[in-house]
Amino acid sequence: MPNLKFHGSAEFIGAAAAAAAAAAFVLLLFLLPAPSAAQSPASTDGFNCSANQSVYPCQAYALFRAGIASSPVDLASVGDLFGVSRLMVARASNLSVSSVPSVGEPLLVPMTCSCPSSFQFNQSYFPVQYQINEGDTYYAVSTAKFQNLTLYPAVEVVNPTLVPTNLTIGVFVTFPIFCRCPNSSASAALVTYVYQPSDTYASVAAAFGTDVASLAALNGPESALSPYAVITVPSPLFVERKGRGAAIAGLAAGLGVLGLICVVLGFLLARAWWGEEASRRRGGAGRGANVGKGDEARGGGAGGEAKLMTDISDLLDKYRVFGIEELRRATSDFDESRLIQGSVYKGVIDGEVLAVKKMKWNASHELRILQKVNHTNLVKLEGFCIDSTEGTCYLVYEHVENGSLSKWLRDRDAARKLNWRARLRIALDLAYGLQYIHEHTWPRVVHKDIKSSNVLLDAKFRAKIANFGLAKTGCNAVTTHIVGTQGYIAPEYLSDGLVTTKMDVFAYGVVLLELVSGREAVSEDGEALWVEAEAFFGQRHGVKEARVMAWMDAALAEQSCPPESVVSIVNVARACLHKEPSKRPTMVEVAYTLSKADEMFSDFSGDSLGVPDVAAR
Ligand SMILES: *[C@@H]1O[C@H](CO)[C@@H](O)[C@H](O)[C@H]1NC(C)=O
Ligand SMILES: *[C@@H]1O[C@H](CO)[C@@H](O)[C@H](O)[C@H]1NC(C)=O
Ligand SMILES: *[C@@H]1O[C@H](CO)[C@@H](O)[C@H](O)[C@H]1NC(C)=O
Ligand SMILES: *[C@@H]1O[C@H](CO)[C@@H](O)[C@H](O)[C@H]1NC(C)=O
Ligand SMILES: *[C@@H]1O[C@H](CO)[C@@H](O)[C@H](O)[C@H]1NC(C)=O
Ligand SMILES: *[C@@H]1O[C@H](CO)[C@@H](O)[C@H](O)[C@H]1NC(C)=O
Ligand SMILES: *[C@@H]1O[C@H](CO)[C@@H](O)[C@H](O)[C@H]1NC(C)=O
Repeated sequence: MPNLKFHGSAEFIGAAAAAAAAAAFVLLLFLLPAPSAAQSPASTDGFNCSANQSVYPCQAYALFRAGIASSPVDLASVGDLFGVSRLMVARASNLSVSSVPSVGEPLLVPMTCSCPSSFQFNQSYFPVQYQINEGDTYYAVSTAKFQNLTLYPAVEVVNPTLVPTNLTIGVFVTFPIFCRCPNSSASAALVTYVYQPSDTYASVAAAFGTDVASLAALNGPESALSPYAVITVPSPLFVERKGRGAAIAGLAAGLGVLGLICVVLGFLLARAWWGEEASRRRGGAGRGANVGKGDEARGGGAGGEAKLMTDISDLLDKYRVFGIEELRRATSDFDESRLIQGSVYKGVIDGEVLAVKKMKWNASHELRILQKVNHTNLVKLEGFCIDSTEGTCYLVYEHVENGSLSKWLRDRDAARKLNWRARLRIALDLAYGLQYIHEHTWPRVVHKDIKSSNVLLDAKFRAKIANFGLAKTGCNAVTTHIVGTQGYIAPEYLSDGLVTTKMDVFAYGVVLLELVSGREAVSEDGEALWVEAEAFFGQRHGVKEARVMAWMDAALAEQSCPPESVVSIVNVARACLHKEPSKRPTMVEVAYTLSKADEMFSDFSGDSLGVPDVAAR
């Protein structure tokens, strides 16, 4: 039995919820056609949803052992696997963020447990998005990577549209991590625990600081348990002590009561701004816009205050609240040498490198968007800070090591290192990230400012979308206030202020052109790249290989790079850049086409999915 280090400490602040978009995503999943729905439910051995639906969603945890089987060992990778922030894993596990767990060390991963009740599957779980690698099967991933916290039959049930025996590399599969909510909100949150062959109720109870009777009440008699059964255990004292009340009190103490009032003020201002924006939307606004409006209306009235406090405590559960002194120390007092780009500074906290974005009071908007999203290909928010004396908000993100794509393409030496394979992967990552915000959030999120400088590359040159500052929830909204970046703005948005997911598709098309040509979105004499491409390739369907080769980045032309692959990407770009928004493909279609192109290229080059072959920086 591993030695759990969980003992009480009242100091410990900050519960950790995870995937905010999870519920929305699951909902969507079940709306999809279900080929095997009519059959009897699969035996899945998770936890049946409680009859009392009002207990969902709730905070829950999973006990995960660092580095065993094929699981990751460091906090960042564990966080990535579950789609939660590494700070939250560190905090729930009472570890410093810079510590490196030893192999087998138990970690508590925070998760939001919900019951997406459907006719197929009435069990509660936390949906984790996992991208299939070569050789992965539902069974192998469930038993090794996720350490039996889920079972493969349950994976099959929640992914009705996928064929388990024929998984495409790169496809996202939802793994339902089993979890359970307590019947009464007064009881301790429950930790999902995999009963080990050497365990007894007594040993588990001792490790978690609970008693044998509670385990039996939750999981039935000890004799009925088989090895690797999934059970639930009341969470250790130190995770329990800080409820919402304590967290809010903690924030109040940290910022001073004045600070808390300012947080409320910030939210009120944001809401006022939003209300105004909503009223400016002309008639014919779509369903999404109406949803947004209703939301705002609720925020305004007398009941709004309570809702507001809920919003804030939601944020407190999800993110770490930093003190301004902490951020000053982390960034050498916002020294210019720490400037990454714009108003984003590099900071080091507890040995962890983070990106700190300084904003005026408008941060709450980006915060609201970011708390809805959670995907590997989106830059992750770790926490925030409010400096009430200066009226400044700070958003703290994960630091993405290799900086922006535009920086890599502009620097000709660097561009040479971004070979075709790496560029194809970047295009695909970006497509997955956009597909996620367009399809799996509700109301839908439109980024509105997709451009190569908002695409960040991590150490392995995988792409992440950054900067949700202009993003909007709700679709088909009309705005009179045009924002965005020249060279990427879709024509219908410029002329009619029409905000739809198709404007992101357009901007994505421009980024594809940049990847192929290595040129900037707007040339020195002010001509847009998409206009230039249109002139060069003409309006006809399909483009000739020779023309593409003549147009492509010289840095690519030097390498052996399969012409058909480049042509197919140029064709995707041209489809995305269609003047008529409804004729543009959706990001789902784009992601599908690109994943095929990527597979084809793997066949061509003989290398498998993995770290692109990019030379050291
Ligand atoms: C958390 O960790 C710190 C330092 O490792 C330790 O002093 C403290 O007792 C721990 N708290 C709990 C509740 O385990
Ligand atoms: C859970 O639900 C299934 C199907 O509805 C039922 O067969 C099973 O007995 C239930 N399990 C428990 C522990 O209530
Ligand atoms: C899930 O619950 C719904 C409504 O309570 C019920 O109609 C359905 O049959 C249940 N499905 C399974 C698989 O038990
Ligand atoms: C998961 O369970 C299987 C048996 O069902 C076992 O062989 C495997 O070792 C378990 N995985 C882990 C990581 O304990
Ligand atoms: C596997 O899926 C691909 C497309 O994703 C399809 O072309 C192929 O026929 C499928 N193979 C089987 C055996 O179903
Ligand atoms: C909730 O109550 C039901 C019925 O009283 C019981 O079967 C179930 O185990 C309880 N669940 C939890 C998580 O306490
Ligand atoms: C359902 O759960 C909620 C929250 O724990 C509780 O307040 C309510 O009384 C419960 N309702 C029933 C019918 O048990």
